[in-house]
Amino acid sequence: MHIPLEHPLLSAIVDDLATRGWSQQTLFLPEALSRELAGECRRRYSEGELNPAGVGRGASQEVREAIRGDQIQWLDPGESAPCDRYLDTMDSLRQAINQGLYLGLEDFECHFALYPPGAFYKRHLDRFRDDDRRMVSAVLYLNEGWQPEDGGQLRMFLHDGVVHDVQPQAGTLVVFLSGDVPHEVLPARRERLSLTGWFRRRGNDPF
Ligand code: OGA
Ligand code: MN
Repeated sequence: MHIPLEHPLLSAIVDDLATRGWSQQTLFLPEALSRELAGECRRRYSEGELNPAGVGRGASQEVREAIRGDQIQWLDPGESAPCDRYLDTMDSLRQAINQGLYLGLEDFECHFALYPPGAFYKRHLDRFRDDDRRMVSAVLYLNEGWQPEDGGQLRMFLHDGVVHDVQPQAGTLVVFLSGDVPHEVLPARRERLSLTGWFRRRGNDPF
């Protein structure tokens, strides 16, 4: 699936990022595709392919359920048709952001995430102290029929004390500048699925 860079959805996201640093699109993907992606996530979970997420990076990474309780698996191209369609779509978004904002985004890394009932992710920024390549965060939700009382909202802490909650409803994509928007995932009362990813710029040369 190829999406033209001037597609209104992509332009809307680029405009939102430029003017306020975040964007929410409730109908980003066709229902059929987000349903296939949810099926893929559940299948991988039931086959034991998801693992408890860590906090931090590299050697200092550790699993700390008091901070985050989700299970994840990183995506690679060529694993399944729906995943490749999603990666293609996100590559179009990457190019559209580069055209509009000159961020020099080089790639997109993403993982399935499954929050079992009761799991949460405490307030944090999507930047590592020792790695500032993550520029833009993008989370796609895969949960049909999500109700506010199911919890699991993404809570974003915007400028001037403004708090914005996103329902993790299937087809919704939220995009924000990774270094600028502190956020948390409230405890979910039912299984909560997503594809969480980051557009990254080139790392600093070690020379
Ligand atoms: C993350 C994260 C948000 C969400 O994985 O870093 O903040 O809504 N996820 O799943
Ligand atoms: Mn995050």
